[in-house]
Amino acid sequence: MKKTTRRALAALCIAAWAGAAAAAAPIPELVKKDGRHALMVDGAPYLLLGVQAHNSSNYPDALKQVWAAVRDVHANTLEIPVAWEQVEPEEGKFDFSYVDTLLKQARENKVRVVLLWFATWKNTNPNYAPEWVKFNNQRFPRMVGKDGKSIYCMSPFGEETLKADKKAFTALMKHLKAVDQEQRTVIMVQVQNEVGTIGAVRDFGAKAEAAFHQAVPSAVLAHKKSPVPGAASGTWTEVYGPYAEEYFHAWAIASYIEEVAKAGRAVYNLPMYVNSALRDPLALMAPWQNNFISGGPAFDVIDIYKAAAPHIDLAAPDIYMSESNKFSANLELFQRPDNALLVPEMGNAKPFARYVYQVLGRGALGIAPFGVDYFDYTNFPLGSKDTDKSMAEPFGKVYAAFRPMERQWAKWAFEGRTYGVAEGDDRKPQTVNMKNWKATVSFREWQLGDRSWKPDMKDYPAGTETPSGGVSIAQIGDDEFIIVGQHARVKIEGIGSNEGKPSLWARVEEGRFDANGKWIMERNWNGDQTDYGLNLTDRVTILKARLGTY
Ligand code: DGJ
Repeated sequence: MKKTTRRALAALCIAAWAGAAAAAAPIPELVKKDGRHALMVDGAPYLLLGVQAHNSSNYPDALKQVWAAVRDVHANTLEIPVAWEQVEPEEGKFDFSYVDTLLKQARENKVRVVLLWFATWKNTNPNYAPEWVKFNNQRFPRMVGKDGKSIYCMSPFGEETLKADKKAFTALMKHLKAVDQEQRTVIMVQVQNEVGTIGAVRDFGAKAEAAFHQAVPSAVLAHKKSPVPGAASGTWTEVYGPYAEEYFHAWAIASYIEEVAKAGRAVYNLPMYVNSALRDPLALMAPWQNNFISGGPAFDVIDIYKAAAPHIDLAAPDIYMSESNKFSANLELFQRPDNALLVPEMGNAKPFARYVYQVLGRGALGIAPFGVDYFDYTNFPLGSKDTDKSMAEPFGKVYAAFRPMERQWAKWAFEGRTYGVAEGDDRKPQTVNMKNWKATVSFREWQLGDRSWKPDMKDYPAGTETPSGGVSIAQIGDDEFIIVGQHARVKIEGIGSNEGKPSLWARVEEGRFDANGKWIMERNWNGDQTDYGLNLTDRVTILKARLGTY
């Protein structure tokens, strides 16, 4: 009897503890303050140092090839698909065993997960939908082209398709809630993948035609101004002129996604986002001419997605443009007070590694190179030719520096204290204005002296043959900075209230953060190490530096 009572008590305690643990892990959410954003995980800003697996690595037996690369990159988050075809191969019969294996292994690896719902649209096509969906054109209609013929892409007006996708997604979210609401291993969900249509501006099916001739919904009117003179209200053509068809298609797809996301969040309210196959960010604005994917969340229709899909937290750029001016332009276009910056995909080739500094310095929620696992598949020329450790290494060394300070960095970013630079293709110095201090970051310098001393010198530091420099700076106090980077020289001078004041380094501690985020100093730089700026080499260096004026 006594024993039983003790056991019962113990059980009660365990239940109480489990209850407390569940309560102690609030659901992830996106928060916003002063036009900046944070992804809250376990109640604090989270820095998503991610990788995305290849498209077909979403099977239990495949995961070992994924974890090995996740470890080598030192990622804290894995983005990986969950395909409609694999969870509902037969209508109404759900199988989430892959998700269970994934979550178990993610927890063992101490990695969080962003699930990518590959369903009605994956890179615009229905390939990941179950066979009972993708081959039944009667029940799940495809779009109709201008010529009246059916095309490859599912219609956003397919009522049965929406119903079925929503049902499967809701089942997934219900399952996640059941198996993960205590651990919160899954921190975010991407709804569909790179939606839109290639080769057609919109659906010309009967339902789409009818909707196209209706008045533009007031939420869209409130969010999206016409780029050309148009009516204040009326049909799509009256309001948006030559942009009408593309905008209408964006609205149709966003509305479909909204239905799916809303239903899923009603069950388990995780943050959700959509990702964008990009249009040229530097080309002059002009209506669609078969030159980009119509209907996806491209930069010029983010407003339409905001209007039609309030249950989608953000639209995110998948950046495979390796040119530094295009990379930067995409960041500018997608980072907005109403749209948090997340780079859920970028090339996994070495030149992209330097962009991590720029993106994290800009206060992004996170970043993930795409195609990070050890299957023998390379998506060159979008990414690396390598499929082994040499692909992982350039990102691994950057992530390794950020990992121990990931929570502080996310907090600093949310407070607006962080800045970032990636070496441009022009290799020219760049300046960053901070609070009362300006940083100038230059590249291809030696650690001692100045190139201008020996303009004919042909020697350059090894590893700088192509642009590879990057620096992130967090201004953690009025005169104090955490500087992390590679292949760069950093100089800081006064602006604002420090303008014109002579300054010098009080301390430049080289060191690292330990696993608890505590700063561990290795040595203090002075003399040659500071006389010519703070020179960061091929080895990712972390400095805690303080300036003084006199
Ligand atoms: C972007 C897509 O979102 C990915 O799933 C993948 O198809 C890459 N393009 C190309 O490898």
